[in-house]
Amino acid sequence: MARQRVLTGITTTGTPHLGNYVGAIRPAIAASRDASIESFFFLADYHALIKCQDPELVRRSSKEIAATWLALGLDTEQALFYRQSDVPEIPELTWVLCCNAAKGLMNRAHAYKAAVQANEEAGEDPDFGITMGLFSYPVLMAADILMFNASHIPVGRDQVQHVEMARDIAQRFNHNWADVFTLPEAVVDDSVAVLQGLDGRKMSKSYNNTIPLFEGEKQLRKSINRIKTNLLEPGEPKDPDDSTVFQVWAAFASPDETARMRREFENGIAWGEAKKQLFELVNGELAGARERYQELMDDPAYIEGVLKKGAERAREYAVPLMAKVRAAVGIGTLR
Ligand code: TRP
Repeated sequence: MARQRVLTGITTTGTPHLGNYVGAIRPAIAASRDASIESFFFLADYHALIKCQDPELVRRSSKEIAATWLALGLDTEQALFYRQSDVPEIPELTWVLCCNAAKGLMNRAHAYKAAVQANEEAGEDPDFGITMGLFSYPVLMAADILMFNASHIPVGRDQVQHVEMARDIAQRFNHNWADVFTLPEAVVDDSVAVLQGLDGRKMSKSYNNTIPLFEGEKQLRKSINRIKTNLLEPGEPKDPDDSTVFQVWAAFASPDETARMRREFENGIAWGEAKKQLFELVNGELAGARERYQELMDDPAYIEGVLKKGAERAREYAVPLMAKVRAAVGIGTLR
């Protein structure tokens, strides 16, 4: 049987935080070690332009995300690791797919609909501030996926619709032109924790409640101390299932250690003590990678080399696929 081909993009608009690590990066790197899976990971820098008009931020984020994945031990001999913008066939395919995708399909995209709704609620024109990039973003994402005939796309719930749109677009192309594309499938892993942030809501850049993955040790301790708790005193039993401290603990600890902490909560562990232990645990898992991360951040030429090599490998797939697509739609040389 053909190996599963798994593909994920990471939009380069932020600094990786513990929520990204637990929810996406750690499981992805673990899965990429499975020899029965072919993994494609890429920096979605053209996607970054949809929500970010700050060139310095896009540049910095690309570097930070690349350094993060490498520091955490992504095996780039096995997995393909590249930058979207180093594969010019992707935007090229995007245009061909744009000419295939129904506008009505894009009208139904959640991100676009939410933007329209926000405008209506604010009494603005429905299209206020909405770019063609935001509107056609699912087509770019379809090109990312279809370019490599990826079969499985691990995503959060918010991205399932986009993968379904990619499937739709692929089906339509295959039907209208030629059978070129594999139909991709979204994979949502509910066993992976959605981490809570400092304020107890989902950890997310947009809530400004994140703990950066590779901030210094001192800073990490400070962040953990800032996790919101209630006012229960030492000795008073605490509800682990209502606690961000416990939830983060469970995302890093073994099942045995999680059971032990659950008992500690029931026995009234002091918040200060629970946070101290949480810091030791998280720091223990991250300290080695943090050091490698710093070395990588100081050596952008090395990162660049890895990405360029990844792009070369990616183009071994992209160039022939794009040739097939061009031939199917009637674009190309006259000879
Ligand atoms: N849109 C995705 C996100 O915001 C990132 C992404 C871009 C992606 N291209 C992709 C994810 C292709 C999976 C497959 O999270």
